[in-house]
Amino acid sequence: MSEAAPIAEHWATGDIYALIISALEASSKSLDSLTVEDLAPIDHFHARGFPATVELGDRLPVEPGDHILDIGCGLGGPARYFAQRFDCRVSGIDLTEPFIEAGKKLTALLGLSDRVSIEQGDGHQLPFGDGVFDGAYSQHVTMNVADRPLFFAEAWRVLKPGGFFALTEHGLGPVGAPHHPVPWSEDGSGEWLVTPTQTAELLAAAGFVDIEVEGTGTKYLEAYRRVIALAERGELPAFGVHMLMGDTAPQKVRNAARNIEEARTHPVQVLCQKSHL
Ligand SMILES: C[S@@+](CC[C@H](N)C(=O)[O-])C[C@H]1O[C@@H](n2cnc3c(N)ncnc32)[C@H](O)[C@@H]1O
Repeated sequence: MSEAAPIAEHWATGDIYALIISALEASSKSLDSLTVEDLAPIDHFHARGFPATVELGDRLPVEPGDHILDIGCGLGGPARYFAQRFDCRVSGIDLTEPFIEAGKKLTALLGLSDRVSIEQGDGHQLPFGDGVFDGAYSQHVTMNVADRPLFFAEAWRVLKPGGFFALTEHGLGPVGAPHHPVPWSEDGSGEWLVTPTQTAELLAAAGFVDIEVEGTGTKYLEAYRRVIALAERGELPAFGVHMLMGDTAPQKVRNAARNIEEARTHPVQVLCQKSHL
C-alpha cells in the first residue's frame, strides 16, 4: 500500500538491535542469560507494556502446539512471551523492517527461533494461506490501518474455523480530534481511528462472532500518569519504549493521556472468533 512506507518510517529507522544491545550492556545485563522478561521494558511496545500482554494472554484460549499469528508484531516481545508461556508457535509480521531485523536477532539471542518466526509483511495482505492459524492478535496496530475491512478480512481468512482474534487499540472517542503527536503519529498523518462501535461492526461484517469489547482507558491512564510522574522527577528507567519514540516521546505520552482524559480517544481490548461453521 502507498501508506506503508511513511508508517514504517514513523516507527523505526536504523539499527534497533544495536540500540537495544548497547543499552543492555550499559546496564551490565549478561547477554548469555537474557530472558524474555529482561527485554519486556522495550519489546512490548504498546500502552501499559508487559502487564497488558500478560492480561491479554489470560484471556486467550491457546493450547500447547497451537500456531498463532501476531499481526504488527513490532520487535516480537509478545510473540516470544506467548510462545514461551503457552508452548505454542507464533508467526509475526510487521511493516517496519528495522523492527523485523532486530526481532529476528532478539529471538535468536533468546533461543526461541524454533518457535517464533518474524517476517516483513502488511496486515492488509497477509503472506499466509487460508485457515492455517489457531488464533491471531494485533496489539496497537490498527490506529495506522487505512482499510479495516480488508485488514479484518485478511485476519478472518487465515484463521481456522473457531480460531480467536484479539485486538487492542486506541479507538476514537466521542469528542474526536486527538492532540498530536501521539505514539502512532506525529501530526495525524498515517492515522485512521474509528470508534469502538465501528470496530465491532466492521469485525462482524468481516464474519467474526462473539465480539466482546472492553474499555481499557482507565488502566492506560493510570500507566501514562505513572510514566509522566517518573519522567518529571527524572526517574524514568534508562531502558524502555521511550528509546523507540524519538525526541517527541514526552509529548506523545502526555497527549496519549490527555486524549483519553478529554474523550478524544477510547482505548479498547476486543476479543472475537471466526465462527465454527
Ligand atoms: C505500537 S507498535 C506495536 C508493536 C507490537 N504489536 C507490540 O505490541 O509490541 C505498532 C506496530 O504496528 C506496525 N504496523 C502498522 N501498520 C501495519 C500494517 N498495516 N501491517 C503490519 N504492521 C503494521 C508498525 O510497524 C509497528 O511496529
